[in-house]
Amino acid sequence: MTTSTGRSADTGLYVHFPWCVKKCPYCDFNSHPLKDALPEAEYLAALHKDLHHQRPPVFSSVFFGGGTPSLFSASTFASLLSAADLAANAEVTMEANPGTAEHHSWEAYLASGINRLSFGAQSFDNAALKRLGRIHSNDETRTCVQNARAAGFTNLNLDLMYGLPQQSTDQALLDLKIAIDLEPDHISWYQLTIEPRTEFAGRPPPLPVDNVIEEMETEGVRLLADADFTRYEVSAYARPGKRCRHNLTYWTFADYLGVGAGAHGMRSGVQVLRTEKPRSPRLYLTDPTHTVTSGVSHTDVPVQFLMNVLRLVDGVPFTRFEEATGLALEHLLPTWQKNVDLGLVQPDRFATTAFGYRHLDAVLQTFL
Ligand SMILES: C[S@@+](CC[C@H](N)C(=O)[O-])C[C@H]1O[C@@H](n2cnc3c(N)ncnc32)[C@H](O)[C@@H]1O
Ligand code: SF4
Repeated sequence: MTTSTGRSADTGLYVHFPWCVKKCPYCDFNSHPLKDALPEAEYLAALHKDLHHQRPPVFSSVFFGGGTPSLFSASTFASLLSAADLAANAEVTMEANPGTAEHHSWEAYLASGINRLSFGAQSFDNAALKRLGRIHSNDETRTCVQNARAAGFTNLNLDLMYGLPQQSTDQALLDLKIAIDLEPDHISWYQLTIEPRTEFAGRPPPLPVDNVIEEMETEGVRLLADADFTRYEVSAYARPGKRCRHNLTYWTFADYLGVGAGAHGMRSGVQVLRTEKPRSPRLYLTDPTHTVTSGVSHTDVPVQFLMNVLRLVDGVPFTRFEEATGLALEHLLPTWQKNVDLGLVQPDRFATTAFGYRHLDAVLQTFL
């Protein structure tokens, strides 16, 4: 939806927290091991400056991501939320590492205005957690989920990964079963990827072969569906009414503001603009208002739009393209029709067929 000002009515706010207890060997996010005391007050002051400087609109969702936001105390989030103008019933998520649970209370996080928690569970197999360099055990994740529920949280996500070093299909499915038994509202189930410049890239662990990964996917999707977790995006599965509204801003090409070290933002209007903050926490703290803004060329917008919306199982209506980008639909339709003829995409909306969903990269390639 677009307002009379040309700004999207469903704007998300992403706030990045760039520190972790230690760096996981597979992780290429902007996260830095904490060597000294957490500069909590200093970072909060910087986030306030940054937010204020970007002239924030009303937000329909907020996502505190990392790094490890759960290293910060509830008062930091309360302070930020009091500075932002939130729509009624805005979704406010915080990512939490189960290994930081002893620091703060879930009751205090709930009272701060956070109403959704996303736990980095990754696996429930202690040997796998160790290989992934995680700082928590299987039991700590279970305790977090139980305590968060007891504190009153009604919207919980678990992040899990599959295709882990030395993992069998049965082990991957067991992780999913344990996760399902904990009754979260949402499960993000990611295939472990080896990212350049990570520790795993330097000394690659033995990963399951492709046909084992395919077996994990086929059986995992079935297991989740049987437990009433509907797949709505490549890695996202939700109980009815519990899709992640914040992530849907990315996947429907809606606007989002990025605040914090290395945070990205996007806004539409006459031109689609992307913003980026300094990645280094030190540089960010030095000048939190510094923002690099770049315009996306009209030739790049269609493919960027499709890269997001086609991740959604149901896609979006054709009308979403003009609404989100201000460009005419005619730019896309001839190539779209070729993909319709190949049985890869739907004729009446921006969505793939079941066959096309398995070949998403090939579909996108045709628009490059
Ligand atoms: C930004 S991370 C933050 C979560 C939190 N810091 C934690 O790890 O507990 C979000 C999620 O991305 C997933 N992830 C990170 N690196 C990945 C990789 N190389 N391959 C697949 N999934 C990955 C993990 O499941 C992780 O929980
Ligand atoms: S805790 Fe999360 S963000 Fe931090 S290094 Fe590990 S995966 Fe990355």
